This record gives sequence, structure tokens and C-alpha cells, in this order.
Amino acid sequence: MAKEFVYEMSRNFDVVVIGAGPAGYVAAIRATQHGKSVACIDEWQNKDGKNAFGGTCLNAGCIPSKVLLESSELFHKARHEFAKHGIKTTGVELDLGTMQKRRANIVRQLTNGIAGLFKANKIDGLVGHGKLLAGKQVEYTTADGEVEIIMADNVILASGSSPVELQIASFDGDKIVDSWGALEFDAVPDRLGVVGAGIIGLELGSVWARLGSQVTVLEAMDDFLFMVDRDVAKLVAKDFKRQGLDIKLGATVTAATVGKKGVAVAYDDANGTHSIEFDKLVVAVGRRPHTDNLFSSDAGIQIDERGFVVVDDECRTRVKGVYAVGDCVRGPMLAHKGSEEGVMVADLIAGESAEVNYDVIPSVIYTSPEIAWVGKNEAEVKDSGRAYKTGSFPFAASGRAKAMEQTTGMVKIISSRDDDEILGVHIVGPMAGELIAEAVLAMEFSASTEDIQRTIHAHPSLAEAVHEAALAVDKKALNFPNPP
Ligand code: FAD
Ligand code: NAI
Repeated sequence: MAKEFVYEMSRNFDVVVIGAGPAGYVAAIRATQHGKSVACIDEWQNKDGKNAFGGTCLNAGCIPSKVLLESSELFHKARHEFAKHGIKTTGVELDLGTMQKRRANIVRQLTNGIAGLFKANKIDGLVGHGKLLAGKQVEYTTADGEVEIIMADNVILASGSSPVELQIASFDGDKIVDSWGALEFDAVPDRLGVVGAGIIGLELGSVWARLGSQVTVLEAMDDFLFMVDRDVAKLVAKDFKRQGLDIKLGATVTAATVGKKGVAVAYDDANGTHSIEFDKLVVAVGRRPHTDNLFSSDAGIQIDERGFVVVDDECRTRVKGVYAVGDCVRGPMLAHKGSEEGVMVADLIAGESAEVNYDVIPSVIYTSPEIAWVGKNEAEVKDSGRAYKTGSFPFAASGRAKAMEQTTGMVKIISSRDDDEILGVHIVGPMAGELIAEAVLAMEFSASTEDIQRTIHAHPSLAEAVHEAALAVDKKALNFPNPP
């Protein structure tokens, strides 16, 4: 039976945000800080059928993956590393049910926290689908199918992204899953296949390998982690191998056939055609902007050839008063990039000047060792033609890293020869994702390596490795021999 639609010309807001992920909810909060009336519409539904704010990041991405990375690392340490500290453990057992409940609880706490923030900031959090119509009208459809037309002075599209699906290995929600499915396994698969050795493939591959799966990662490209500095990529490739992650490069998956017991995967590489059986297969070959039914054809919004909403440097679409932020626009698909765009747009709407420094966005891969970087890698600096110098310092020479029994990795800094400006910082090792913040701040202020050299770092700390790498740029490292 056809739904009965209710069309009303009722509410009018200064700002309507479509999408309550880290880009959209942050934009909404900042807009209310400017005294704007704000509604934020979101349709996210979790696997239990409940709606929740927070988008991919809180429900199915950053947060649940980091929870499982933490838990699985502790499990792995208890079984394999405590003995080195003189702590004997026997009978360490996995209770995956409790581990998964903890993940779900943390997600619930944080997503409820956003609902709380909306209330505290007097934001109208609307559950349902939002669609931009011509003239900055927003069609809001509730889960019951009721429709309301909301008038907005400004609209922010923050609809996020969704996983790319391979035709030859389409998701069945059971044996072939996307990253969300792989976060919610209720048993450890004996044999786990992962298509794509990107960030998701490595993070989730690490989780399940630590919990006992035999993990094989099939990567189409010949280069491992092409976006990462080559010194770092070489180091981690070796370490992942030591950890038992079987990463096959130059491997093109040609078929995936679901059977009763698992998935039979065929792939080609330089040595010919192979087949391999898995209990579960995770497909993690990238994400695409999610713009399904986001705007009407007469709304004036332009989409590029890859499906991204076209915006300028200040996230303005072609329509005055309509902006787009986060994963649905160009740039890295990272939560903090989306949030900063959300803040910028809200500030611009309030008449303030604001910008996002796209050259200084940190990236972190939360594997062990952790990988973090900001700015250019050495190959990119070389290609730019600018004369440069590099310095690095290994965690093997850090007292704090030794105390932590985490000496794999290093800090590498690249700076210009002419004025010593820091051009890129690459960290692989313990707490790399935390240590990179110093480099981001330094680069935000266009610091030189000398600025870091002259900054006092606490002893003994991992941050001393950043200090020493900066010293090494000028062959002045104190706790490691400087190369000739
Ligand atoms: P999203 O978080 O995708 O939110 C968009 C929201 O809009 C969703 O709730 C969606 O339901 C809603 N929506 C879409 N269209 C409509 C509509 N028409 N009407 C109503 N609602 C709509 N990034 C990091 O920086 N660090 C990490 O550690 C990290 N880990 C990740 C791990 C995994 C497994 C995955 C998959 C991603 C990870 N990411 C990480 C990426 C990060 O999740 C995204 O970059 C981020 O969520 C993008 O934010 P967003 O607000 O643009 O979109
Ligand atoms: P990705 O772009 O990081 O990696 C995808 C990988 O799959 C690439 O190496 C690519 O060469 C490979 N690939 C593509 N097609 C293939 C095929 N047919 N067969 C085999 N390999 C193939 O994408 P991923 O891992 O899906 O993550 C998506 C995005 O989510 C990331 O780019 C990142 O922006 C975000 N993310 C961020 C995290 C973080 O900040 N720690 C964690 C997880 C995701």
C-alpha cells in the first residue's frame, strides 16, 4: 500500500546538516557555537536495527576497529610477550564474546554521547533520510515514511562513504564481508582472506591474526603501501611477515566462489594462476563517496567522475549556501579531515575566515608497529626537485622503547636544504599515532628541524626519538652514531 506523505512548510533552520558522522556532527556543533539554529539529519542503522549518530567512524570504522586492535594486542602480548618481562602466564584464553560486547558498549557510549551533545547544544537531531531539493529546501523522510520539507539558509552535505564492492566477490554478509562485517565476527575464522593490503586490510588482518586466524592478504599492486615512505614500507613489510601475515603482492583476484564451508578464491600473479580456500573473505579495496538519493537533479549539485561532490578549497558547492564536507568530497577519507572541514564551513557560514591546511593532515595506520606520517615522503620530495636532507633515529636506541619491549621502528624527518623547513615526518613504532602530533604542530607553524632540535623533550620518553631524528638531520644525533 502506498505511504501517505505529509508535506508541511513547517520548520526553518539557519543550517541543516545531512549526515551525522565526524564531518557532519562537528559542523553542527560548531554552527550552534556561532548561535545558529541547526538540524542534523542521519539515517544510520546498526545491525541490531537501532539508529545511531556518529556515522561510519563511530559505528563501523575508527572506533570499533581501534577497540579490537587494542584488545587483540593485549591478548597477543599476554600470550607471547609477557614472558620477556618475567611474567609467566598459563591458560590465557580468548573470550571473544566479552571482547565483542566491550566493542559494542564503547560504540554505544560514544554514539549516545553524540545524541547528548546534540541535546546540550540544542541541535535538532533528526533520524531519517535527508535530500537536498532546489532552493535549499531539504526533504526529510522519517523511518515511518513521513515526509517534511525543511527550509534552510545553509545546507551542509556530509553523507560519507561506503565500501567498494567487487563484482567478482560481492558481499553476502556471511562469508564475503566488508570491513563492518569483519568487525563483528562472532568466531575467529581459521583461515581469513583479505582482498586489499590497504589501511583496512592491514588493521583488520592484524586483529584476526592476533586472535588466531591464519591471514592471507591479496593485494593487486606490486608496491606495498605505495603512499608510505619507502624506508617505512620496507621495515613494516618485514615485520608483518615475522608476525605471520601472508601478504601477496601483485595478486589479482579473478573469482570468489562461496561454498558450504567457505570461499574458494582464484587469483593471478607473476607466477601464474592460484586458488586458495578461506573460511571468511574480507573485501577492503577502498571506499566510494555515498551520495545515493542525496539531492534532486534540479538541486544544482555537481558530481565528479569518481562520484565525489564537487567543491572548492572552502568546501562550497556550485550552489550558494550549500557546502559539502568529509568523505563525500575530494581529499583523504579520514575522520579528522572531515571534522576540520566541518569546523571551517560552520565558521565561514558565521562570516569568519577559516581554512583547512590540506598539506598537513596526519595519517595513522594502527597496526603493530604503528605507522604515522605527515607531509611528503622522500620520493615525493625528490620528485618536487627541492634539495633536501634526512635524519632518522631507531627506537632500538630509545630507553623508553626498550622498557616497553617495543624497539621495532624509527622516526625519519625530511627537511629542505635551503631553509631547513620540515617537509615530512614518518614514524613507525610504538605510539607513532601520538608522536606524530608534535610533527603536525611543528609543520603547521612552518617549523625547521632546528626548532625541534632546540625543544626540550622529557626523558625517558618516546618523543626523544623525534628530537634525536631532528638532530640527525644535521648529523648531530647524541644517542646514535651519525652516518658519515
Ligand atoms: P561518515 O562517517 O560515513 O558519516 C556519514 C553519515 O551520513 C552516516 O551516518 C550516513 O548514514 C549518513 N547519511 C548519508 N547519506 C544520508 C542521507 N541522505 N540522509 C541522512 N543520513 C545520511 N578514519 C580515521 O581518521 N581514523 C581511523 O582510525 C579510521 N579507521 C577506519 C576504520 C574502518 C574500518 C573504516 C571503514 C573507516 C575508518 N576511517 C578512519 C575512515 C573514517 O571512518 C571516515 O573517514 C569518516 O567516518 C568520514 O566521516 P564523514 O562524516 O564524512 O562520513
Ligand atoms: P585503501 O585505499 O587504503 O586500500 C585499498 C587497497 O586495495 C589498495 O592497496 C589497493 O591497491 C587494493 N586493491 C584495490 N582493488 C583491488 C583488487 N581488485 N584486488 C586486490 N587489491 C585491490 O582502502 P581501504 O583499506 O578499503 O580503506 C578505505 C579508507 O578508509 C582508507 O583509504 C582510509 O582513508 C580509511 N581508513 C582509515 C584508517 C585510519 O586512518 N587508520 C583505517 C581504516 C580505513
